[in-house]
Amino acid sequence: MSSTLSPAVVFDPACGLRSSRVSLRPAGPGEVEIEVRAAGVCHSDLHIVTGDWPTDRPLVLGHEAAGVVTAVGAGVTSVKAGDHVVLSWFAPCRRCRKCVAGKGWLCTGTRAVANTLPDGSTPFTDDRGEAVWPYLGLGAFTERLVVPETAAVKVPDELPFGIGALLGCSITTGVGAVVNTARVRPGESAVVVGTGGVGLSVVMGLRLAGADPVVAVDLSPERLAAAERFGATHTLDGAVTDVAAWCQEELGGVDYAFEAIGSPKVIETLPAMLTPGGAAVLVGMAPTGATGAFDLFDLADQGKRILGCNYGSSVGEIDIPKLARLHLAGRLPMDDLIGRIRPLAEAAAAFDDLRSNTGVRTILEP
Ligand SMILES: NC(=O)c1ccc[n+]([C@@H]2O[C@H](COP(=O)([O-])OP(=O)(O)OC[C@H]3O[C@@H](n4cnc5c(N)ncnc54)[C@H](O)[C@@H]3O)[C@@H](O)[C@H]2O)c1
Ligand SMILES: [Zn+2]
Ligand SMILES: [Zn+2]
Repeated sequence: MSSTLSPAVVFDPACGLRSSRVSLRPAGPGEVEIEVRAAGVCHSDLHIVTGDWPTDRPLVLGHEAAGVVTAVGAGVTSVKAGDHVVLSWFAPCRRCRKCVAGKGWLCTGTRAVANTLPDGSTPFTDDRGEAVWPYLGLGAFTERLVVPETAAVKVPDELPFGIGALLGCSITTGVGAVVNTARVRPGESAVVVGTGGVGLSVVMGLRLAGADPVVAVDLSPERLAAAERFGATHTLDGAVTDVAAWCQEELGGVDYAFEAIGSPKVIETLPAMLTPGGAAVLVGMAPTGATGAFDLFDLADQGKRILGCNYGSSVGEIDIPKLARLHLAGRLPMDDLIGRIRPLAEAAAAFDDLRSNTGVRTILEP
């Protein structure tokens, strides 16, 4: 066990968000040790802090991160010390039927969503010797972590770490929702409700795919202004507009309606925005156990579809390097997603940035 203690941002069900110090065990077989260089603060971290997604154990938060490999365990072949990597929060098992079929985002063997490493353990111990668990199998709001090889995706050294961090969640999810989940084609129409880090990435993906028109909906004027910079052709204030009525009157319904908030009330409104045969894409993650109601006759009669979207239906090893290359080629304006850059010690303020829509994505640097 390493004797070095590193600062970490922990959510503890007993006392909420707290700063802690954790030690890290070395990488075992099939594992990789990484020094974190940048970690984005995503609403999926905030869902834990607000209690939307209850946890029974203390978690090192952070699941949208990039860093440098410092050591590898026995049998690791895809990365080596010194490699720059993006962390993937849905480390696939590579053995289940979904993985074998090339659908790693549907992996049934991953333990990441149980907040453990693949063997059910945690690499972290706090200064009292108690186990602290890695959120989504990562726990990136600290200086160093240990992850399974499938969670460490090699990217070009010239990719800035802040961009790499966002490739770990929001960008891969948002662009993937367009190109993988929905498979939007040039000239198809879309509405995106909720334009935070994930929703703006959906807008970015829609521009890449050649969608038109692209309607962005949010409650924040700053976020709507950002959506225009990312390629939205129309923006609507969701607080004062009946978006479904607008879509029907102005466009005869849209081909795709993306939700990137996780609000059951908003999700329920998506089918009414669609043209016959259109699809609602659920990218936002609702609180645990939330349910919704749809007009069932309309869904069947109009051939409308509802598509779930985990991690942008992406295969990390393929999609993350692909998006990195598109960024380096100037095809995706990812720099504009980065808001404030704060030290790890300002994690609480970083969550306030997210709650108050300040900037787009705040990045924590250990
Ligand atoms: N599907 C996935 O794999 C995946 C991956 C990452 C994040 N997520 C989820 O995506 C959602 C968005 O994450 P984020 O980090 O972009 O969040 P965010 O907080 O940065 O953005 C949410 C946006 O929604 C807007 N909003 C809130 N209520 C609204 C309303 N009623 N109408 C219109 N706009 C409204 C907010 O102003 C904000 O701009 C979260 O639920 C998160 O958990 C899902
Ligand atoms: Zn996320
Ligand atoms: Zn699997």
